[in-house]
Amino acid sequence: MTRELRFPDGFQWGAATAAHQNEGDNDGNDFWAWEQTPGHIADGTTSGLACDWWRAAEDDFDRAAALNLNSLRLSIEWSRLEPEPDRFDDDAFGRYREMLTALHQRGIEPMVTLHHFTNPLWLAEVGGWADARTVMRFWRFTRRVLSELGDLCRQWCTINEPNVYAVFAFLAGTWTPGRKELLTTLQVMRHLAQGHAAAYHAIRRAQPDSEVGFSQHLATFTPADPNSFFDRKVARLRSTLFNQRLLDAVIDGRFRFPLGLGRRREDLADSFDFLGVNYYGRHWVEFDRRGRETMYTREVPAPAATAWAPPWGDREIHAEGLRRWILDLHRRTGKPVYVTENGLADTEDERRPAFLLTHLAAIHRAIADGADVRGYYHWTLVDNYEWVEGWIPRFGLIGLDPHTQERHSRPSAQLFAEIAASNAIDAATVERFAPEVMDQIFDSASL
Ligand code: IFM
Repeated sequence: MTRELRFPDGFQWGAATAAHQNEGDNDGNDFWAWEQTPGHIADGTTSGLACDWWRAAEDDFDRAAALNLNSLRLSIEWSRLEPEPDRFDDDAFGRYREMLTALHQRGIEPMVTLHHFTNPLWLAEVGGWADARTVMRFWRFTRRVLSELGDLCRQWCTINEPNVYAVFAFLAGTWTPGRKELLTTLQVMRHLAQGHAAAYHAIRRAQPDSEVGFSQHLATFTPADPNSFFDRKVARLRSTLFNQRLLDAVIDGRFRFPLGLGRRREDLADSFDFLGVNYYGRHWVEFDRRGRETMYTREVPAPAATAWAPPWGDREIHAEGLRRWILDLHRRTGKPVYVTENGLADTEDERRPAFLLTHLAAIHRAIADGADVRGYYHWTLVDNYEWVEGWIPRFGLIGLDPHTQERHSRPSAQLFAEIAASNAIDAATVERFAPEVMDQIFDSASL
């Protein structure tokens, strides 16, 4: 049995980040405003300086280069670039030019995300993604970005996790604008799909050699009681609504029920060169007779041994789910896949090495089964600000004290650096970092 998992030549080894979570002082967007109200953020903090990237991202780019990363996924902040409708800010474009240039100078290929959850305040005030005109505004913004920064990037991710954004902001109401309206949520999902497609065509027209996709959060839902007909039904329903409906739209151009009645739209169909998979684990769900607002589903705690730490105890570490999603997309589209996010909140870095290794092994297995996976972006490089959980979850390969801005490298950073350098996982590395998963990594039957 071979004791090495080798990845395809040219595989992209990266970390994923987001403007609002990393840059700091991002006070022109709707999430910054949301953070200022007590009760909105679990630990009562605000993003503040975040990782101080607006001033000094280059220091962390040095760290990324030292970890042998050959790519970095970062987003650009619409509210900085267009602080008022139709007024674009040359200085902000200049700063992003510096950042993208700095990445190239370090041998790091940028993958740029155009929308990662935040909106300019002026846009939020006129309805944000609930307003159909936002599709055209996003298209105009994209065209401007292409003309200003297009020479520095050829891999574009239009929109990050449109399903997560629509659900938290418009259905659960825990993110700005805090609405709990099913019909608006469906409308927002449609607009996001249309925004993605409009941006896709704009980028491909301006830059025919570019690669354009979007990142979908794919969660595995499993019935709490596999023998219960209703638990099985609601697990499937959740997966259809959360994972599939937006994907359907960009794959075959159809807004299927409840997004629409399934008529094919040519602008949406096949509007991607790659699919970005953001995968964090499996959720256990059961039928809830009284849960009309949650579509009769309730999440229940995952088995203790494999559950995430609070506040995400209903989420389970489940590497096999990643392999299945990749193969599912491969079978449906045959197009390249990038794992554009995958990571674990683990301050002490106790479980991250095993998490990283088992998820990379799952990707390797999907490639062996025929999928065209071209890269892996770990979430994230340096601890950053986690939306309404604030500074509680720590996802970084590198730890950060947000008060002092001091960083400390976690063992997983070294592990990732070794894998990226050799483009492979070998038994000696597994032995040093997480010997407990040795069999899982090299035994093709188990994960
Ligand atoms: O921090 C987020 C990111 O912004 C989107 N995907 C999930 C990450 C971890 O929760």
